[in-house]
Order: sequence, then structure tokens, then C-alpha cells
Amino acid sequence: MRSYNVAIVGATGMVGTKFLQVLSERNLPVKNYYLYASKRSAGKVVNFLGKDHIIIELKEENIVGKDLDFALFSAGGATSKEFAPIFVKNGCVVIDNSSQWRTDPEVPLVVPEVNASDSLKNKGIIANPNCSTIQAVVALKPLHDKYTIKRVVYSTYQAVSGAGMTGYSDLENRVTDPDQLKKFPYPIYGNVLPHIDVFLDNGYTKEEQKMIFETQKILGDSNIKVTATTVRVPVFHGHSESINIEFKKPCTLEGIRECLIAQKGITVIDDPKQNLYPMPIYAEDKDDVFVGRIRLDDTVESGCNIWVVADNIRKGAATNAVQILEYLIQADSK
Ligand code: A2P
Repeated sequence: MRSYNVAIVGATGMVGTKFLQVLSERNLPVKNYYLYASKRSAGKVVNFLGKDHIIIELKEENIVGKDLDFALFSAGGATSKEFAPIFVKNGCVVIDNSSQWRTDPEVPLVVPEVNASDSLKNKGIIANPNCSTIQAVVALKPLHDKYTIKRVVYSTYQAVSGAGMTGYSDLENRVTDPDQLKKFPYPIYGNVLPHIDVFLDNGYTKEEQKMIFETQKILGDSNIKVTATTVRVPVFHGHSESINIEFKKPCTLEGIRECLIAQKGITVIDDPKQNLYPMPIYAEDKDDVFVGRIRLDDTVESGCNIWVVADNIRKGAATNAVQILEYLIQADSK
């Protein structure tokens, strides 16, 4: 089997370090890893897979001539915009975790459990979806296949780790002095912020807009009506989502449970009598999406409510990107 050269861009960040952890747990046929970050981190040494790697400054002259096959990016939208095309020009396929390319019709937006084969249509860049969308569509996919989804209402409870190192530190340091806040406009400690990413003219946030657009793109159905309220909560790891779903076809509680249990990548935890339901503390550092609180919604002809939890930095970011990489490598070896 061929072996590949892989770059990690943003290797010192919240998602970048999780890329390294997830890659070290899997046995990918990789010849060399190249770890990139900003000038600030260049020269630092990171031990990865038993070998010391020197962090390389991200600039064009450090990209050319390395014979890179794949690059996993998580260094923000502006860095992706500038550097993903340079990696592509040098013969590399980029799997990008930022929102920079997700709406581009030429760029596949991929969650392997849902639309893995779309990644083969790439023209150099594949987008990793938003963390909240990834865990949601893993649960929606089998329900859509079985009952055809008409409408989805998302309400999210999102961890601070989704806001990078600075968001994390605002909670970790219990910052309440507005002048000391590094990331959020108000304290997240002891608080809840109905505000993730910037506000748009229509009153929704960009995070909400991402969930709406990305759900339709990944499920390949722009007829699905989607609305969302996204909320930051004082939890370190793991996003939780209440999802209300209305179907076109009649559903049953047993049928919904069966298809969720059968879906690869989902663990159903749903035994209310025993107080068993998914929670962020269970999902932390796991690759699966956890689903529970499965109930029919009697206010519509056919519909249900589900509660979906996943580690936003694993399945919501790093694991999903590494799964795309594995899929591309497997497809290349056939
Ligand atoms: P650095 O650590 O050198 O600043 P997070 O989202 O956790 O804040 O991490 C962002 C990641 O993206 C870090 O690895 C950071 O590197 C990297 N990064 C940010 N800006 C740039 C840039 N202009 N060029 C290269 N890497 C960048």
C-alpha cells in the first residue's frame, strides 16, 4: 500500500492538537507528517507518534517541494482562504475545518456517515462542516432516509471549547470582569449566551445560518425546512442539541429507535426510568454521537424530539476530518 505525506495546519490549536491525538490512535499509512502554525509557534518541538516534530511557519516557501498529499486545516477562515489554494496548487488535497469554503458549490461538505462519496468529487478542497451540524446530521440521516424530513428545529447548548483557546480560558479562569474577557462579549461563567458567531441582518447568528445551510447541503435536500437557535453554555467539552423533527411519512417510536440504533457512529442512551440519557460528560473524548430522550411529537401528524450530544472537538471537528482522510486513502488504494 502507498504511504502519504500529510500536513497539519494549525497544529498548535484546540482542534489541531486533537487532530494529532486522533491520528495517533489510528494506523494511517503516513510517511511524513508536517506540522504548521503561525510564526509565533515556529521552532517549537511537538512529540507526536514517538518522534519530535518542529513546528513549521506557514508560508509558501515552506510548502513547496514537500510532496504533500493531504493537509488537515484548522487555523481559521482567513488562513484557509490564503493558504488552501497554495497547498492545492502544490498537488495536495485540503480538508478544511473553517467555514471559508463550505458554501462554495464546487467544494464538497462531508460527514462520512452521511455523504462520504461526495469527498471524491473534490477539486482540491473538502470542507469539514460546523461542529453543531456534524453531530445533528449523523442522527438526521437515517431518519430522513426512512421518513423524509419536512422540517427541523434546532436548539443548541454549545461548549466553550468550540470557541478556541481564548473561549476556553474565559470559562476556565471564571472571568466575570468585562475588561478581562478574552473571547466572549459577556461572562460565560455562570451564564448562558444566545449568541455564537456574529449577528446577521435578519437577526439570526452566523452559527445558526451555518446549521441551516449545511444541513440542507449535506443531506442533499434544499426542500428541508430548518431553523435554529444556537447557545453557548458554561460547559468545557461537548455540544448538546434538542432537535425537533417533522416527517412527511408516518413514523413510530419503535421505528425511530431502530434506525437510530442501526446507524453507524451513533450510540443510543435512552432509558429515562433509569435516568439514562446522553450528557457532555459521557461524550468527552469519544468519537460517537450520543442520542437519547427519543419521544414522538404529538403536536404534528408525524414527528419526534431527540437529544443529541457529541464531543465538538472530536466528532465535531478532528475525528470527522480524519475519517474523510481515511476514506480518501482507502478510495485511492482501490
Ligand atoms: P499559533 O498557535 O502559532 O497561533 P485555536 O483555534 O485553538 O485558537 O488555534 C488556532 C490555530 O491556528 C493555532 O495552531 C494557530 O497557531 C494557528 N494560526 C492562527 N493564525 C495563523 C496564521 N496566520 N498562520 C498559521 N497558523 C495560524
